[in-house]
Amino acid sequence: MPHISIISSSVRNGRNSHRVALYFRNYLNDNKLATSEILDLFDYNFPLFEERLQYQVSPSDGAKDFADRINASDGVIIVTPEYNGGYPASIKNVIDLLYKEWHLKPVAISTVSEGSFGGNQALIAIQFVLWKMKAWTVPALFPVPEVAKTFDENGNPADKKKTDKKASDFVKALLWCVEAKSRME
Ligand SMILES: Cc1cc2nc3c(=O)[nH]c(=O)nc-3n(C[C@H](O)[C@H](O)[C@H](O)COP(=O)(O)O)c2cc1C
Repeated sequence: MPHISIISSSVRNGRNSHRVALYFRNYLNDNKLATSEILDLFDYNFPLFEERLQYQVSPSDGAKDFADRINASDGVIIVTPEYNGGYPASIKNVIDLLYKEWHLKPVAISTVSEGSFGGNQALIAIQFVLWKMKAWTVPALFPVPEVAKTFDENGNPADKKKTDKKASDFVKALLWCVEAKSRME
C-alpha cells in the first residue's frame, strides 16, 4: 500500500484549512487507499528559512524528521490556504528547506479559501515553485471554497457524497503517478 503524507500548511491560530487535511487522512484510511499521516507545520513550528537542510551544520530534529518523512512518502498532498492571492510563507519555508526529496515526488495540491474561488491564485503560484523543484505536480484539482461552511472541525464534509466523489478523482490521479513512478524504478 502506498504511503501518502499530507502537509497541513496553515500555522494560523483558528485555522480552517486543517479541516481539509483531516478529511484527506480520513478519506485515505477509510477507503484503504493508502497509509497516511499529516505533517502539521503548526506542530513543527519551524523557524524562518535560513539555509537548505543539506547545507545546515546542525539541523534541528524537526527539520530532519520532516525530510525523512517526505523521503519515505510515495506521494504528498499539500493542503494550503490562499493568503492575499498567494500561499503562506509556512509552506514556502519547507519547500525551500528540501531539495532532492522533492525530485519527481508526486505532489497533489489542494487549495483552501474562505471566499468563493477556492484558492485558485495560490494554486498557480505554488504549482510553479514545485515544478521548479522538479516535483511531479499531479494534474488534478481539489479547490475548497468557503471552507468553514463545507467542512467541520473534525474534517467531516457537509456534503459527503459530493466531496468524496471530488476526492476520488483527485486521489486517483495522485495514486496513478505514484504507481507509474514505482514501475519506472
Ligand atoms: C493573511 C490572510 C490573507 C487571506 N487572503 C485571502 C484571499 O486572498 N482570498 C480568500 O479567499 N481568502 C483569504 N483569506 C482567508 C483564508 O483563505 C481562510 O482563513 C481559510 O480558512 C484558509 O486559511 P486558514 O487555514 O489559515 O484558516 C486570507 C486569510 C489570511 C489570514
